[in-house]
Amino acid sequence: MTAEALAHLAPRPGGVYCDATVGCGGHAEQILLASAPDGRLIGVDCDPEALVIARERLRPFGRRFLPLHGRFGDLPALLDSVGVGQVDGILADVGVCSAQLERPERGFSFQRAGPIDMRMDPGQGETALELILRLDEKELADILHAYGQERRARAIARALRRAAAAGTLTDTLALAEVAGRAAGGRRGPRDPATRTFQALRIAVNDELRQLDQLLLAAPRCLRPGGRLVLLAFHSLEDRIIKRRLRELSTSSGGPPPLRLLTPRPVWPSAEEVATNPRARSARLRAAARTEQGAELAFHTSGGGSHAP
Ligand SMILES: C[S@@+](CC[C@H](N)C(=O)[O-])C[C@H]1O[C@@H](n2cnc3c(N)ncnc32)[C@H](O)[C@@H]1O
Repeated sequence: MTAEALAHLAPRPGGVYCDATVGCGGHAEQILLASAPDGRLIGVDCDPEALVIARERLRPFGRRFLPLHGRFGDLPALLDSVGVGQVDGILADVGVCSAQLERPERGFSFQRAGPIDMRMDPGQGETALELILRLDEKELADILHAYGQERRARAIARALRRAAAAGTLTDTLALAEVAGRAAGGRRGPRDPATRTFQALRIAVNDELRQLDQLLLAAPRCLRPGGRLVLLAFHSLEDRIIKRRLRELSTSSGGPPPLRLLTPRPVWPSAEEVATNPRARSARLRAAARTEQGAELAFHTSGGGSHAP
């Protein structure tokens, strides 16, 4: 979806952009190329390992690239910390990176053994195992249901709590085994623990609340005409994006802060899905900051609750 993301972000020379999920720097590199010779890019990521990779990859761009460690839910403060009030475009490609999924020591993989961690920022907050140990069975089931859309949430929660208490939840393979069995075993191409892993990861990283905070803060971080481009990989994320963009681009008395550029989500092309099957569920939505409307964003920023 790089071409689609670039087309909606419309980077140009002299512009200042923010990639709120810089990851390994793939999109960032294209933004820097498209805004040559003097466009600048602030690349935010909460994963220090991703920032190391991005910094290395984007070294040829010199001072045009500025890596910034933090969570995109705090975007106004992050931009403030580097003396940037507003930017000409914000891109967020939310979710996990393949580099994170592929490193078993990060704890996202149910195919290779690693610690039950799943924190995108290993320096912040509790691990997935700590979460399982802290929550009671009902709270855990609610998370599996809300964030994993898992129908067997209660049975899985019970099995996970038991295994954790017995000390047998030793690594991600054990987690996949216990969750998969309680989910009823394999019935299709997908690992039966997929939904459990997704739910725990979303909870550990507070992903939906972060996304909502970013959406609410984005209008005041954008210059008039500035673009907001969002790439989501599952329906939970896309639902929040769709709802907030609609709200922020609808007049409720005053001029709305955003103008919707995508009445319908943009999907990857068949060619892209053929070469990269992981892209098949990606969806892109975009909006532009209006001339007058940033004030409204302050009044709608009551924040949503994403606790299950
Ligand atoms: C799908 S990857 C982005 C890949 C990137 N577009 C590229 O071209 O390499 C998502 C990235 O967002 C980061 N991330 C997820 N939630 C975040 C948050 N709340 N704040 C900052 N970064 C976050 C992850 O650490 C990960 O590196």
